[in-house]
Amino acid sequence: MQSNGNAQTSAPVLIDVEKVYKSFGDLHVLRGVSLQVQQGSSDVILGRSGIGKSVLLKSIVGLLTPESGRIQVKGTDVVGKSIAELNSIRKNIGYVFQYAALYDSLSVRENLEFPLRKHTKLEQDEIDERVREQLRLVGLEDAIDKMPSELSGGMKKRVGLARAIITKPEIVLYDEPTAGLDPMTAREISDLILSLEEHFGITSITVTHDLECAKTIADTIYILNDGSFQHQGSFDELKQKDDPLTRAFFQAVV
Ligand SMILES: Nc1ncnc2c1ncn2[C@@H]1O[C@H](COP(=O)(O)OP(=O)(O)OP(=O)(O)O)[C@@H](O)[C@H]1O
Ligand SMILES: [Mg+2]
Repeated sequence: MQSNGNAQTSAPVLIDVEKVYKSFGDLHVLRGVSLQVQQGSSDVILGRSGIGKSVLLKSIVGLLTPESGRIQVKGTDVVGKSIAELNSIRKNIGYVFQYAALYDSLSVRENLEFPLRKHTKLEQDEIDERVREQLRLVGLEDAIDKMPSELSGGMKKRVGLARAIITKPEIVLYDEPTAGLDPMTAREISDLILSLEEHFGITSITVTHDLECAKTIADTIYILNDGSFQHQGSFDELKQKDDPLTRAFFQAVV
């Protein structure tokens, strides 16, 4: 799977968001947003703080319910599903939460074991091996017996990422995976996301404010504004666009 070139047009659509509306009281956050993510594609969402990026990701996994519109993951409707049905859909989806969201009372090892016990029937030795494999992938083998309170922000982010992909999901949603990291660690995370896409064919949506990350991983970038996507294109296409909204995001890029 090649990044920075559009996914093949013939690939099936794994995530299909159609004219979704979501409000909180008088606050109309999503107003007819649509998005089709093809298998093997790595798409990026940019948008101002508070514009509704996390609300959209949460809606895709059924943590929030839109008032109207359709959301399908692998051809299955998400809206209106029971918890049991949502759990079955979520087996295919890894979610890297914006704020690492580790269980503070569990060690790194136990945090990583949690989704395996919930979603798989692996034996203990297989679980041990999978935990070690994921920690190797994110460069944190030595932290296996630490508690979250003993980790730096960047380490927590990496554990959150390892936990999201430990069940080997087909789809991963990353909500600001590099926020708050130093540039070197941020680059390592971006490269890791890219290599997951290339080696395991993972389909992903990444919300980010980090243009280096977007440049590294994005097949298509979408700009969310006023409740829907107002621009979409490759990094280079958007960078060259002569439009005030796009320029606001790309002006810092040389
Ligand atoms: N559960 C909720 N109840 C009420 N309002 C909410 C809820 N979740 C989000 N909002 C509101 O919806 C708007 C969009 O929030 P969201 O978290 O999606 O922003 P965002 O684009 O992810 O911003 P950031 O870049 O700062 O993370 C905000 O005004 C927020 O206060
Ligand atoms: Mg957010």
